[in-house]
Amino acid sequence: MKTIHAPSSMTAWSQRLRREGVVIGLVPTMGALHEGHRTLIRQARLNCDALVVSIFVNPAQFGPSEDFATYPRRLSQDRTLCRKESVDVCFEPTAAAIYPEGFQTVVSVPSIARRWEGESRPHHFAGVATVVTKLFGIVRPDVAWFGQKDYQQCAVVRQLAKDLNLDIRLIVRPTVRDRDGLAMSSRNVFLTAEERRLAPMFYQALLAGRRTIEHGATDAKEVQAIMEKGLREEPAIRIDYLAICDPDTLEPLERIDRQAVILGAIRLGSVRLIDNVLAKRKQKTRR
Ligand code: PAJ
Repeated sequence: MKTIHAPSSMTAWSQRLRREGVVIGLVPTMGALHEGHRTLIRQARLNCDALVVSIFVNPAQFGPSEDFATYPRRLSQDRTLCRKESVDVCFEPTAAAIYPEGFQTVVSVPSIARRWEGESRPHHFAGVATVVTKLFGIVRPDVAWFGQKDYQQCAVVRQLAKDLNLDIRLIVRPTVRDRDGLAMSSRNVFLTAEERRLAPMFYQALLAGRRTIEHGATDAKEVQAIMEKGLREEPAIRIDYLAICDPDTLEPLERIDRQAVILGAIRLGSVRLIDNVLAKRKQKTRR
């Protein structure tokens, strides 16, 4: 496995392979790799010729009071994992290489980025959209893999790739969970033992919402109340948002008359968790 730091070397590597017709895959990450990342990397490995994993804790997607400084960094473990999964290149740029002096351009996807995570974290998606566009420009992949865990992020990336004619195939893979349902996340290490015990209640609430929709509920308020009920009983949990949305536009639905995505974020102590599930009413079978 090669480790590349300089964007120009990364592009040169890709350009050479592309000329030979090699299909290049990219899994963009911020490192502290866990089973969720590993599953994405394995999927990618099976579906491209040359695989690049980028590891870059992107300062532009953290707000001033967020956890950029304390975000877990475990480069040598990450490299070992990548090597085990037969990654071809670990791309590890520095912040100075990604945002050199005089850097100005910001990619923004205003409509999809406005609500939910965008409301709680106002500059987050501009930071994500800008760095993903840059990573696409540097690595020039044919295919890129993202996790459904960050549903709104996937929608933002899909929109920017379409709007900017990037000609990159995007593949979204399902959320990988711990046995008790908690979505894996690099931030889970910050949960105390007691918070970790409570954390699966979040997924349970989303599943309760999904079940209610599958059983025919069409009033979003009713479904929302059911999801909130369980969580409000636990004082350590604070709900940031729980929303039943159109899966493409992410606009909230009042009436659930099509497939929906239930998006949520909660706070447990100092940790903010996000998760989502897709939900669809079961079709009544005709006799
Ligand atoms: P990061 O949080 O490191 O996640 C990298 C990729 O792994 C994302 O596509 C994310 O959705 C996916 N992922 C994380 N946890 C997952 C899980 N439990 N199951 C499945 N996939 C999971 O997302 C980012 O980094 C950054 O915003 C990035 C896109 C790299 C831009 O900086």
